[in-house]
Amino acid sequence: MLEITKSKYNKIENIINEIKKEVKPTPDELKVIAEYSNELVLRLRKIIPKDVEVLAVGSIAHNTQVRGSHDIDLFLLFPKHYGEQQMEKLGLEYARRIIKKNKNETYIVKYAEHPYTKLILNDLGMTADIVPAFKINDALERITAVDRSQLHNKFINNNLSEKQKDDVRVLKVFLKSHFIYGADAKTMGFSGYLCELLIYTYGSIINLFSHFYTLKIPVAIDPMHKMVYEEESAIKLLKKFNSEFVVVDPTDENRNVAAVVSKETFAKFIFSVRNFIDNPTANTFYSKKFSDVYTKRKVLKFSKELGLSIFVMHFEVPEIADDILWQQLRKLKEAITIKLKNNGFNPALTLENLFGKSGIIAFFINDITINHAIIEGPSIFMRSAVDSFIRSHNRSLGFIFNEEKIISIEESKYYNAKEVIDEFIKEIKLPSYLKHDKLNIYKDDIPEEIAKLVYSAFSLKTIL
Ligand code: UTP
Ligand code: MN
Repeated sequence: MLEITKSKYNKIENIINEIKKEVKPTPDELKVIAEYSNELVLRLRKIIPKDVEVLAVGSIAHNTQVRGSHDIDLFLLFPKHYGEQQMEKLGLEYARRIIKKNKNETYIVKYAEHPYTKLILNDLGMTADIVPAFKINDALERITAVDRSQLHNKFINNNLSEKQKDDVRVLKVFLKSHFIYGADAKTMGFSGYLCELLIYTYGSIINLFSHFYTLKIPVAIDPMHKMVYEEESAIKLLKKFNSEFVVVDPTDENRNVAAVVSKETFAKFIFSVRNFIDNPTANTFYSKKFSDVYTKRKVLKFSKELGLSIFVMHFEVPEIADDILWQQLRKLKEAITIKLKNNGFNPALTLENLFGKSGIIAFFINDITINHAIIEGPSIFMRSAVDSFIRSHNRSLGFIFNEEKIISIEESKYYNAKEVIDEFIKEIKLPSYLKHDKLNIYKDDIPEEIAKLVYSAFSLKTIL
C-alpha cells in the first residue's frame, strides 16, 4: 500500500470531490429515470400473472448510476415451476407487450446466457433491459447466471453508505475514461457490481487507489470478510477459480465477479491509478481524449517512423451477439500472430475491432523479405528424434550444431508476411459467420471507413 502524506491526501480528496459533483446524476435526471422506471414496472404488473414479480436491479436500484448513463435494469422473477424455456419465452412476450409505439418506443432482443429485451425509449434517450430470471433467496437455488442479480440488490443496499455509493460512481467514470469499464467481451473490464464490491472492501476510492498503486497479481479479494489475500494466502481461492484475479461474490461463494477481467485490463487499471495518484488532476483522472484526426496522425506516425506496414483483414460480419464475434476475432488474431511469429515475422502491435457490419484484424509488421529459415531440432543425444528430424527436413540446405542441438538451415516457406497471412486464410476453417467470400485483405492502402476502425482500436490499445 502506498503511504500518502496528509497534503497529498487532501489534494486527491479535493479532486475526487470535484469529480463527484460532475458524475452524480442531477435530481431532475434521477426524477425522470425513476418515473420512467416506475411506469414500466406498472405496465408490466398489469399484464403479468400474480406469481411473477417485477424488480429493478443494477445501478438504478443500488443508487450507483452515473450522470448521463440512463440504463434501467428490470427483472421479471418467475417461480421455478415455470421451467427455463417457458420463463425465457414469457419474458420476451411480456416485454414486447408493454411497448408503446405512440411513445416512440422500440425494442431489440439481445442474447446473453438467455435472451432478453432491450427497450429503446427514443424520446428520452434511455434504454431499459427487461430480463427474465428465477426468483431465489439463496445462490444455491440459482438456475441461470442472472438469477444472482436480485441477491446483489440486497447486499449492496444493506452494506454501502451513500458516500461509498458516490465513490462507486467516481470509480465507474474513472474506468470508463480509461476504456476499461464493462464486463462485455470487447472490454474485458470491470463490471458495475465489481466496482461496488471493491469500494465496499476498501471503504473508499482513495483507499482503493492507494492499495492498487502497489498491488500485484495474483490476488484474491473476499468482500464479505473485507479480506485481501496475496501470495501464499491467496492460493486456495486462486486455484478454486483458476484465475489470478479473484473477487468472490458475497452472495455466491462459487462466483468470481472478476472472472472476465483480462490481465491487460488489470494492468491498465494499475497504471492509470498510479498516473492519477502521482499527479492528481482532472486530466489524469479523465485520461486523454482522442479526436479522429489526432489518432489517425498518431497511427501513421507510429507505422511510418518505425518502418512498419499495416495489414488489415476486413470481414463483413452478420448481426449476431457481439460477445461471440469479439471472442472469435481475438482467437483468429492470436492464431495468425503465432503463425507469423513462427515464420520470422513478429508483429509490433496487433489490433481487432468491430463496428456494425465490419470486423477487422490489423497487424503492424516490419514487412521484410526473409529468404531463409533456421529451425532448431532436438539434442544429438536423442538419437531417434534426430533421425526423424533429418528425414522430415529433406528441404534442408545444411545442418549445423548449436551446442548439442541440431539446426536445419533451409529456404523459408514464406518470403513475406502477406504470404503467411494468405496461406493461413486458405488453410483455416473459419466460423460460418466470418466467411471467406466476405473477407478482404489490405496492406497500407486502406479504405478510409476501414481505417477508422484501425484508428479507434489503436487509441484503445495504446496508453498515454
Ligand atoms: P449492468 O451491466 O447494467 O451494471 O448490470 P450496473 O451495475 O447496473 O451498472 P451501470 O451503471 O448500468 O453501468 C445489472 C446487474 O446485473 C448483474 C449485477 O447484479 C448488476 O447489478 N451483473 C451484470 C453481474 O453480476 N455481472 C456482470 O458482469 C454484469
Ligand atoms: Mn445497469
